[in-house]
Amino acid sequence: MAQPISSHSQTTSQSPPPPIPTIAVDGIQPSTRQRAFSFSNLVKRTRRAYSVSSAYPVKVHPSLALPTPKSSADLCLSADGLEIQKMKVPSLTPAQRRNSIAAAQRKYEDFEQKIEAAPLFVLVSTYLNYFILILFGHVRDIMGKLFKRKEYAHLRMSEGYAPLVSDFDSFYTRRMYLRIRDCWNRPTTGVPGRKITILERESKDFNLSFRLTGKKMEATNFSSYNYLGFAQNEGFCADQVEDCVKEYGMSSGSTRLEAGTLDIHQNLEKKVANFVGKEDAIIVSMGFATNSTTIPSLVGKGCLVISDELNHSSIIFGVRLSGASVRVFKHNNMIDLRNLLREVISQGQPRTHRPWKKIVIIVEGLYSMEGSIVNLPELIKLKQEFKFYLYVDEAHSIGALGENGGGVCDFYGISPKHVDIMMGTFTKSFGAAGGYIAGDKAVIDHLRVKNHAFSYAETMSPPVIQQVSSSMGIIMGEDGTNDGVNRIHNLAENARYFSNELRKLGFIVYGDEGSPVIPLLLFNPAKVSAFSREMLKRGIAVVVVGYPATPIISSRARFCLSSAHTREDLDKAIRDISGHTAEMLQLVKSLDSVKYTPRSYIVADTDILSKEKATSYEQELNKGKFEIYNIPRVREVGQSWSSVPLTLLSALLTSSRILLNIWPDLIICNGPGSCIPICMLAYIPRILGIKKIEIVYVESFARVETLSLTGKLLYPFADRFLVQWSELSNILDKAEYKGILV
Ligand SMILES: Cc1ncc(COP(=O)(O)O)c(C=O)c1O
Repeated sequence: MAQPISSHSQTTSQSPPPPIPTIAVDGIQPSTRQRAFSFSNLVKRTRRAYSVSSAYPVKVHPSLALPTPKSSADLCLSADGLEIQKMKVPSLTPAQRRNSIAAAQRKYEDFEQKIEAAPLFVLVSTYLNYFILILFGHVRDIMGKLFKRKEYAHLRMSEGYAPLVSDFDSFYTRRMYLRIRDCWNRPTTGVPGRKITILERESKDFNLSFRLTGKKMEATNFSSYNYLGFAQNEGFCADQVEDCVKEYGMSSGSTRLEAGTLDIHQNLEKKVANFVGKEDAIIVSMGFATNSTTIPSLVGKGCLVISDELNHSSIIFGVRLSGASVRVFKHNNMIDLRNLLREVISQGQPRTHRPWKKIVIIVEGLYSMEGSIVNLPELIKLKQEFKFYLYVDEAHSIGALGENGGGVCDFYGISPKHVDIMMGTFTKSFGAAGGYIAGDKAVIDHLRVKNHAFSYAETMSPPVIQQVSSSMGIIMGEDGTNDGVNRIHNLAENARYFSNELRKLGFIVYGDEGSPVIPLLLFNPAKVSAFSREMLKRGIAVVVVGYPATPIISSRARFCLSSAHTREDLDKAIRDISGHTAEMLQLVKSLDSVKYTPRSYIVADTDILSKEKATSYEQELNKGKFEIYNIPRVREVGQSWSSVPLTLLSALLTSSRILLNIWPDLIICNGPGSCIPICMLAYIPRILGIKKIEIVYVESFARVETLSLTGKLLYPFADRFLVQWSELSNILDKAEYKGILV
């Protein structure tokens, strides 16, 4: 039997460990890992993690500016820096050989989207929403247990038995999930390609059960992991699959260790190894089982697994099965990982303090809930320094990232030899099912007997093998066409366009540059269901995600982009999302429903800057039909507060005179200090139900967190928040307004 992968080389307890050299990351000195709970830290972390990205400068995705392939075959990133070395790595695929110097020079910072602070208003309203839901849920439970004893018997202590399902998860499922259950598990039919066909259903018992109505509805599909558009029932792959079924049937009828190894299994394993740039590979019929059975065959008692906090449940399950110790580091945070490594290596195993038998770090290439791409260059530097094994789950990145679809190594231009275990699935980019493990031959030979899903479960079905083989062949250019390259480019371009457009509109969007997974933050549980239902009404199928798949506060909609999407699909989706948010998200609201009367702009002359801006804007757009009114500024910077009541009164009087005079449909605010009185007054007719005066707040390149106090005050009242002044012209061009520009 093959031996397990060699043990982690560590200092023994006899010889004291030498001081571990430190790397300063981005000039930040590594600090001691803080474990103690601190309320202020919690608040800081929460604000950082669930935050607004309102005005990112547009970055050009480097993979779109494809560099010309170099003839020098094996350029790859040296592990100890970002300099390029010429190395002979015979296992590199032809596709990976095409990686250019430009690719190898990429840094993580080029793709990382910095997460910015969320406005307190969003956080507070989200917590409040949960508070009300939880409160009402508990009140209903208490009443139910008292007055509907039979119905609630399973939640009560009965005959000495404790209730079996009375934890928070059960409460969450009954009192929160059930209310919005229609947004998940929607039955579909047909191929989940660019479009998806959804079977309509209805519930007459508040989502306890559903009944199909018999109607079907077609929607643009942003919910499947069809990154490269291979989910097809026609074309090259489908034809080959059809031929394969005629030749091999549907099943090998045995396990791999017995009589189930077909020639096509072995061919696919060679192809996968070649594609990812490793010596050998095994394939397993289920992606989830690939992780959960491989990890226990590599590590066990006395070993340590260090896992990213957002790793997929198949990894968590595998680590638990293995019996290895596990420590978790903050998502993609290399400073935290470094501190953790120092701690665990210096301390060794619990109680005995013996050195760990081996240390394996498990990360994902692309995180499917966050859209973040692993910081592989920094991870490899740490690997060189601390000597751990690196296991990368490429379920979402293989095929979808990198100039050649080769995953994260290809994306950064890093040689795959730096990653010990490469795991991936065929469910996403290849439009099939199953998973693979690629690595050195000795390790893969060991897995061929020790991996239970490989040796004891059913083998991968022939049509599935053929689908993977054909689609991988297209990505590698084996069919002699540019189809594969075109798909990869379309996907990168679609992903970049879509996320940039959403960010420009002021949405809270996660995900690194180039990620085909684009999460749009909704926070509020009420918005989750509303967003999903409204999107479906508009023919957009999108997955909404909440607890337990995400932290309870950061519910989101997750758009999965595909190379099959056309620009029209994306533009329509963006229009639908931004229009729809009028009711759903406080960030961007629609003006569509309002009819505007002829244009006549008036600007309040509050300060020289905004007057100049308004005048030049007027000259550009309005060609001289511009009147300028004066509104006193409530308080100049540095002015004493004692005069504020008087100036506020005067501002309110002037504003009400202007409002009544113009009776506008729209107020465009640029300079919150002077906007507040007029916006407050403009709310009165809305509250009285007389007229809805739209308020648009323009802050050129401002981020919510950097707004002044008055800006933050005004922000929640604005119907539409524009981050770029130039975008205003797009709105104004489309409609005739009667409005005020403040
Ligand atoms: C990171 C990761 N690993 C493994 C899996 C399991 O793959 P499969 O769905 O093919 O079983 C998934 C599924 O989405 C995943 O996201």
